Amino acid sequence: MEKFLRNLVKFTAKIYYNAVFTKKKEFKYIPASGKLLDIKELENMIDASLDMWLTSGRFNDKFETEFAKYLGVKHALTTNSGSSANLLALSALTSSKLGDRRLKHGDEVITVAAGFPTTVNPIIQNGLVPVFVDCEIGTYNIDVSKIEQAVTDRTKAVFIAHTLGNMFEIDKIKDIANRHSLWIIEDSCDALGAEFKGQKSGTTGDIGTYSFYPAHHITMGEGGAVVTNNTELYKIIMSMRDWGRDCFCKPGTDNTCKKRFSMQLGNLPFGYDHKYTYSHFGYNLKITDWQAACALAQLEKLPLFIEKRQKNAKYLAEKLSDLTDYLILPEVKDHASSSWFGFLISVKPEAPFSKQQLVEYLEKNGVGTRQLFAGNILRQPVFVDNSVKLRINDSEPMLSNALTEEDYKLLPNTDFIMNNTFWVGVYPALGKTELDKTSSVIHDFIMSEKNS
Ligand SMILES: Cc1ncc(COP(=O)(O)O)c(C=O)c1O
Repeated sequence: MEKFLRNLVKFTAKIYYNAVFTKKKEFKYIPASGKLLDIKELENMIDASLDMWLTSGRFNDKFETEFAKYLGVKHALTTNSGSSANLLALSALTSSKLGDRRLKHGDEVITVAAGFPTTVNPIIQNGLVPVFVDCEIGTYNIDVSKIEQAVTDRTKAVFIAHTLGNMFEIDKIKDIANRHSLWIIEDSCDALGAEFKGQKSGTTGDIGTYSFYPAHHITMGEGGAVVTNNTELYKIIMSMRDWGRDCFCKPGTDNTCKKRFSMQLGNLPFGYDHKYTYSHFGYNLKITDWQAACALAQLEKLPLFIEKRQKNAKYLAEKLSDLTDYLILPEVKDHASSSWFGFLISVKPEAPFSKQQLVEYLEKNGVGTRQLFAGNILRQPVFVDNSVKLRINDSEPMLSNALTEEDYKLLPNTDFIMNNTFWVGVYPALGKTELDKTSSVIHDFIMSEKNS
C-alpha cells in the first residue's frame, strides 16, 4: 500500500513536471553557469519527503557510498557546502589526533591569491599563515616551479584549487610535498571529474573537497563533500562535521561502538555517555536527506555532464581560435583532462581594448560573464581592512593591511588575471546555439574595436 501511494504521489508530480518544466528553454541571456535537473531529481526528493526523516539518512548513506565509488576513494563525507568542505579539510589537519603532523598556530599553508575566497579563509580561520605563490597564465593554476622556494620550516600544507576544472600537475606537487612532509588538500569544488594521468581530481592528495552548489558539475542545492583515503583523517573530519563528537553513530542510532557507557575519555567520569563526548572543537555541517536525494539523481548523469562540458569547451575554443592575436584561450597540461566549470579568456595586454570593455559588451549583448572569483584576493577589502599575517613567495612575513603596490608586484600573473581574465559558460544546458552567440558577440566586439 505504501509503495502504491508513493508511486501515486510521484505520478502526480510527473504530470506537474511535464506541464511546467519540459518546455525547451531559449536563453535571452546566456548564463555562465547553472543547474540541469529533470524528473529523477524531483522523484528522489519526493521519496525523501515521504520518508519524513529530515536529517541525513538513507539517501545520504547511499550518496556517500556512490560518490566514493565513483571517485575510487575509501571515504566520502557530505557537507552543507563546498566552503564547509574546505573548512573541515583544513581544520582536520589541526587535530591533536595527528600528533607531530598536526598543524599548529602560526604554521604555513601554501596557496594562491587568484581564486575563490573560501579556499584561503580556512587557513586564516585556523590561525595559520597563508603563503601566496603566483599562478600561470593560460592554465590559471599555481606555478609549480615557484612552490619550493616558498617552503620554510613552518610550511606544513598545500591547499589549492584545480582552477575552473583545469587540473594542476598533482604529480609534481606530490613530489614536493613528499620531500618537505607537506599535507595536500585539493580543492576540487570546480573540478569534479577532471583527471590527471587517469586519476580523478581530489583523490591524489590527502584530502579532496567538492561543491554541489547549483553552478557546479552536480548539485544538491547547497552542499559539498570531503573525500580521503586516510581512515584517521576520515574519522577526524566526521567528528568535526558532527559537532566535534567522539561518537560516530549515525543520526537516529545509538551505541554503534557497543561501549557507549563503558569508556574513560578525557577527565570525565568512567562510563560518561559516549554520545555526549567531544574530542574536537567541531561544527554541525551535515546535510539533509533531500539534498542527498537530489545529488544521487545528479550523480547518475555526471559522466554525461562532464562530456558535455568538455565538448562545449572544445567547440568554443575552435570558434575563437582566430582571435589569438587578442585573446589567450585556456591551456591544459600534458596528461590532464579538464572538466570545465567555465571557459577562461584573457585579453592580451597589446589588444586595442580592455577586459572591462569586452565584458561590458558581452553582458549588454546577452552573454553572461564571471571573474576568476576574487581576482587578486590580497587586494580585496577583507584583506585591506584586516591585519592578516601572510607571506608572498619567499618573502618575510607581512601584514595584509600594510601591503604596498611593490608587494602586489610579487604576484604579477595574479594581478594580470585580476585585470585581464574572465570566463563564460560551457555548462551542459548550453548548446551550439548559445556558444555560437557567445562567439559571435566576441567577434563583433573585436571587429568593431579593430576598425575604430
Ligand atoms: C574553488 C572553489 N572552492 C570552494 C567554493 C565554495 O563552494 P560553495 O559555494 O559550495 O560553498 C567554490 C565556489 O564556487 C569554489 O569555486
